[in-house]
Amino acid sequence: MQFFIDTANLDHIREAAELGILDGVTTNPSLMAKEGITGEKNILKHYRDICAIVGPGKDVSAEVISTDFKGMVAEGKKLAELHENIVVKIPMIKDGIKAIAHFSELDIKTNCTLVFSAGQAILAAKAGATYLSPFIGRVDDITWDGIALIKEINEIYSLQMYETAILAASIRTPLHIVQAAKAGADVVTCPLSAITGLLNHPLTDIGLEKFLADHKKANG
Ligand code: E4P
Repeated sequence: MQFFIDTANLDHIREAAELGILDGVTTNPSLMAKEGITGEKNILKHYRDICAIVGPGKDVSAEVISTDFKGMVAEGKKLAELHENIVVKIPMIKDGIKAIAHFSELDIKTNCTLVFSAGQAILAAKAGATYLSPFIGRVDDITWDGIALIKEINEIYSLQMYETAILAASIRTPLHIVQAAKAGADVVTCPLSAITGLLNHPLTDIGLEKFLADHKKANG
């Protein structure tokens, strides 16, 4: 399973990249706004900065703002031309599906976002999306089961041999990461806190303290 970081914060991206386990980045308009990145020029520069931090071969999702086919295609082309790492992130709406099919023909990578059902997942795969982003945290927020959705999509994609990668998004906790891995997600995209949260275990802390204390006792 690949690890993407879900943020537009350059320090967090750098920290995750330095861990040596980072495979890519996802952003969205809310995450860009949170970092105070506004205006087309600054937004495009920020995507270039992210690509420079993560280095070659790491996919970076950049989301279109347009909601009509023509607008999404124009915006997506501009984003894709920015850097070879860029994946055009497109919402799961009618024109979005048309745009994904169009980009698929052009061999431009896409990430179909705001996915909440197996039916939407089938459409996105048929259109040729590179990644599919089911939002598991937001499904849990309304007391449905986000992980069950990943399992259902994984079952369908395996049976139908769809090539679209399941990118479990809206991850909130380290437990979500473990559950997404068990449910068959190809990628998880998560905040830095969820990634570093995987490190924690009290027995590791107690064990390390004891090893260091014993070494000190024996060696002075
Ligand atoms: C990722 O592609 C999504 O934009 C993101 O995971 C949404 O997460 P949230 O539900 O925590 O906002």
